[in-house]
Amino acid sequence: MSTTQRSDLTAQIHHALKNVIDPEIRRPITELNMVRSVELVEQEQGYHAVIGIDLTTEGCPMKSTIESRIVDAVSQVEGVHSVAVELGAMTQQQREELRILLRGSATPVIPFTQPGSLTKVYAIASGKGGVGKSTVTANLAAALAADGVKVGVIDADIYGFSIPRLLGARGLPTKVDSMLLPPIAHEVKVVSIGMFVPAGQPVVWRGPMLHRALEQFLTDVYWGDLDVLLLDLPPGTGDIAISVAQLLPHSEILTVTTPQLAASEVAERAGSIALQTRQRLVGVIENMAWLEQPDGTRLELFGSGGGQQVADSLTALSGSDVPLLGHIPLDVNLREDGDNGVPVVLAHPDVPAAVALRDIARGLAHRERGLSGMRLNVTPL
Ligand SMILES: Nc1ncnc2c1ncn2[C@@H]1O[C@H](COP(=O)(O)OP(=O)(O)OP(=O)(O)O)[C@@H](O)[C@H]1O
Ligand SMILES: [Mg+2]
Repeated sequence: MSTTQRSDLTAQIHHALKNVIDPEIRRPITELNMVRSVELVEQEQGYHAVIGIDLTTEGCPMKSTIESRIVDAVSQVEGVHSVAVELGAMTQQQREELRILLRGSATPVIPFTQPGSLTKVYAIASGKGGVGKSTVTANLAAALAADGVKVGVIDADIYGFSIPRLLGARGLPTKVDSMLLPPIAHEVKVVSIGMFVPAGQPVVWRGPMLHRALEQFLTDVYWGDLDVLLLDLPPGTGDIAISVAQLLPHSEILTVTTPQLAASEVAERAGSIALQTRQRLVGVIENMAWLEQPDGTRLELFGSGGGQQVADSLTALSGSDVPLLGHIPLDVNLREDGDNGVPVVLAHPDVPAAVALRDIARGLAHRERGLSGMRLNVTPL
């Protein structure tokens, strides 16, 4: 083979590598400067291509995925008979350059509060514990992702984190310089404090530390261009809810309640905190609405009307429409699928609870991001 043919083949291999997407960053490895070298060894049956790759870190959890994607892409190039991948790791300087390339700036900022950010940010709140916030969050995220929406979830329930399990996100974030690449489960980017504390150890933090942790999730994690960011809040109106309002002033609140009137009164209180923080109330989700009986009738285990009551009173309090977005029935699949790390919307998409969750998710994806409730950077004279 002549030198020109050889360099043609090398160019074709580089071209083929453009189709190899890094599984964590979700961009072509060529754009991320991960391709160190392409060498050709002439053999009887054709060329043996040796691809040198610099991974973001030596212990990159996605090593084998990247390797097989490269082998698949390069094997398809005509004239290549076999492929070998030599994995190395980026230097500290390369990692720093990659971080700046992805971030677009050397100093960490919260991307969602930058002018021009199109990400819709929803915080899922409730007054009472155990009403299904985390289950709803995980399912909305999975349903949105299944519809092709780019979605991230922050488990902001620092003490009672449950999102990694519900979404089956078993991986840990990969560190690239000072940036963290979040694990991706069911196409959802997930970050939780549970990924940073040793298993079984309680988190004993006070307000300022919670605030700092949340801030780091927002600034140090590489989220990429998200369409929707969901935050699973702890129950009540504590420090984290206030930190969310401060760090993400344009975030909007989704309130989860059960039909029980006692629960709905507490949910109202949690919702009305948004009036003080000037966040917008997107709507109310009534969970555990009823249990369908074998004969098709509905057993209203926790009473009825709570969701509508919260919606009505938040509408009256805020002076703008806070709709009831849907009723999610009790369903044993919802719990079992959550325990198995595959949200019901994916595991049993046809059960009524999954249909209700998917409808709510679609409504959220199609909402325009409103300006009302947003703090504007103008000072009246
Ligand atoms: N519609 C439903 N049908 C059956 N089980 C449900 C339903 N919604 C939630 N659950 C179950 O109820 C329990 C509490 O749900 P979840 O953890 O989502 O609530 P939470 O509001 O996030 O709780 P916490 O306040 O502790 O964070 C879980 O075991 C979950 O599987
Ligand atoms: Mg929870």
